[in-house]
Amino acid sequence: MDGWDQLKSDWLARIGAAADETALEDLRVAALGKKGEISLKMRELGGMSAEDRQVAGPALNALKDEVTTALAAKKAALGDAALDARLRAEWLDVSLPARHRRMGTIHPVSQVTEEVTAIFADMGFAVAEGPQVETDWYNFDALNIPGHHPARAEMDTFYTHRAPGDDRPPHVLRTHTSPVQIRYMEAHGAPTRIIAPGRVYRADYDQTHTPMFHQVEGLAIDRDISMANLKWVLESFFSAYFGTNVRTRFRASHFPFTEPSAEVDIQCSWEGGTVKVGEGNDWLEVLGSGMVHPKVLQAAGVDPSQWQGFAFGMGIDRIAMLKYGIPDLRAFFDSDLRWLRHYGFSALQVPAVHSGV
Ligand code: DAH
Repeated sequence: MDGWDQLKSDWLARIGAAADETALEDLRVAALGKKGEISLKMRELGGMSAEDRQVAGPALNALKDEVTTALAAKKAALGDAALDARLRAEWLDVSLPARHRRMGTIHPVSQVTEEVTAIFADMGFAVAEGPQVETDWYNFDALNIPGHHPARAEMDTFYTHRAPGDDRPPHVLRTHTSPVQIRYMEAHGAPTRIIAPGRVYRADYDQTHTPMFHQVEGLAIDRDISMANLKWVLESFFSAYFGTNVRTRFRASHFPFTEPSAEVDIQCSWEGGTVKVGEGNDWLEVLGSGMVHPKVLQAAGVDPSQWQGFAFGMGIDRIAMLKYGIPDLRAFFDSDLRWLRHYGFSALQVPAVHSGV
C-alpha cells in the first residue's frame, strides 16, 4: 500500500468510527479545515517539482473527494441513528384513554332561567334586567305600594344602611322583580313585551324560603291586551316548560300593582306521594298576576287611557323544584358539590323550546 492509500484508509477508518456528529465535525476540521492535514498537503503541491505534482495532485484530489463523500455519508447515517433513537425514546401510545377531568355542572336555577327565556323568546318577549339594590320608589311607591301599605311590612325587606344625618329613605334589596316593569317602561314606553328574570331578597328562611331567591317577571303592554291573553300565554308557557298540556286556574286575589289580580294555580296530582304536573285534580299555586294598575303605568310615564296590559311574577326556584323533583330550596344555595353533581346539568344540554328540556 503506498502512502496515499495508507492515508486514505486511515481517514476512512476514523470517519467510520466517529461516535457522534461532534466527533465527526472534529474530524472534518482535522482533514479539510484550513489547517487540516489534507488542506496542508494541497498547499505543499505548489512547492513540488512538476513530475511529483503530476502524481501527487490527482491522488490528493481523489483523497479529498473520498474523504468529503465519506464525511457526508457518515453525517447522514448519524442523523438517521439519532432520529431513530429519539423516535424510540419519545414513543407515545395515542390510543390510551385520556386522563379523566371532572367537569362543573350548570346550576338548576341557571338551566331553568335559560329554559324560561327560550320559551318566552319564542312568544316574542325580550329579556330585561334591573338592579338588585333598588330605591324604595321603584320597589314600592311606583308599584302603588305607599309607605303605610301592609305589603311593605309583609315583604320582610332588607334595608341598606345610611350614614347618620343622611335622611334620604334607605335603598332596599329588591323584594321582587316587579320594579323592572317601571324601569323598562320608563326607558322604552309602550307597547312592550318583556320578561325580567333575576335575584330577589327577603328576610325569610325555612324549607321553602331562602333570603335570596329568583323570580321572573312578565309584562305585556299594548292597546287591547286582556286577561284572556294572559291566560293563553301562561298556559302555553307551562305546557312548553313541563312538556305536557297543563291547565291553569285563576283565583281572584289582590296585589297593589294589578287590578284585577289573580293567583294562578297549575293542575297537578299527588298520587304516590310525589307531585306530577299536568295530570290529576289538584292545584298548585305558582304565580301572581293581573292587569297592570293604571297608577303603575302612570308612574312609569305610560298613558293609561291609551295602553293596558298584564303582568305576572313567578318563582324560578319553585318551578325548578317542581320540574326536576328537588325537595329542599335551601340546598340550592349551599354549594354542596355532591348536590350540584346530582342536580346540575351538562353544559351541552342547551334548552330549546322544541327539545322538550
Ligand atoms: N311581585 C309579586 C311578589 O313578589 C308577584 C307578582 C304578582 C308580580 C302579581 C306581578 C303581578 O307582576 O302582576 O309577590
